[in-house]
Amino acid sequence: MTSAFYPGSFDPVTYGHLDIIRRGAEIFDELIVAVLDNKAKTPLFSVEERVRMLENVTRDFPNVKIDSFSGLLIDYAAQKNIHVAIRGLRAITDFEYELQMAQLNRLLSKGKLDTMFLTTTLEYAYLSSSSVKEIAMFGGDISQCVPEQVAKVVYDRYHIAR
Ligand code: PNS
Repeated sequence: MTSAFYPGSFDPVTYGHLDIIRRGAEIFDELIVAVLDNKAKTPLFSVEERVRMLENVTRDFPNVKIDSFSGLLIDYAAQKNIHVAIRGLRAITDFEYELQMAQLNRLLSKGKLDTMFLTTTLEYAYLSSSSVKEIAMFGGDISQCVPEQVAKVVYDRYHIAR
C-alpha cells in the first residue's frame, strides 16, 4: 500500500488545499492530512477545530485520514513510517521556501523523507488561508475560497453576520 501525508497549517482549509487533497488521494492508496500544532504561532483556529473542519470537508474521500502533529515533520513521518510528503506549489513565490523545506527534510531524514509537489490548479493559484482570513475579517465574500461550512465557522470567529 502506498501512503503519503500532506502537512500544513490549514488555518483554515481552502479549496486550494482540497484540490491537492483530492489529487493526492488519487495518486496514493492512503493520504494523511497532518495539521501542524505549532505552539510558536497563534492560529485563528485550534488544532482540534482545524482537524474537525478537515474531517467535515473530506468526508467523501475514503482513503483520506486527518491527523495532527507537533515538532519536526521528519519525526512524525518516521513514527508513521511514511516516506512521501506532498505539498502544493502555487507560484514561483512558494518555490524558494518549499525547496528549502524539502531539501532540509531530505537531509535531516537521511534521505528517508521526500517531498512531492503538485502544482495548484490555476483557479486556486491565488488562494491562501491568510487572504481568506483577511477578506472575512472585513466582511468580504469568501464563498469562492472555502467550502460553505468552513466559511460559516470563519465568519463566526470574526463575529461577522452574513
Ligand atoms: O501550511 P504551511 O504553514 O505552509 O505548512 C508548513 C509546514 C507545517 C509544512 C511546516 O511549517 C512544517 O513542516 N513544520 C514542522 C516543523 C518542521 O519540521 N520544520 C522543519 C522543516 S525544514
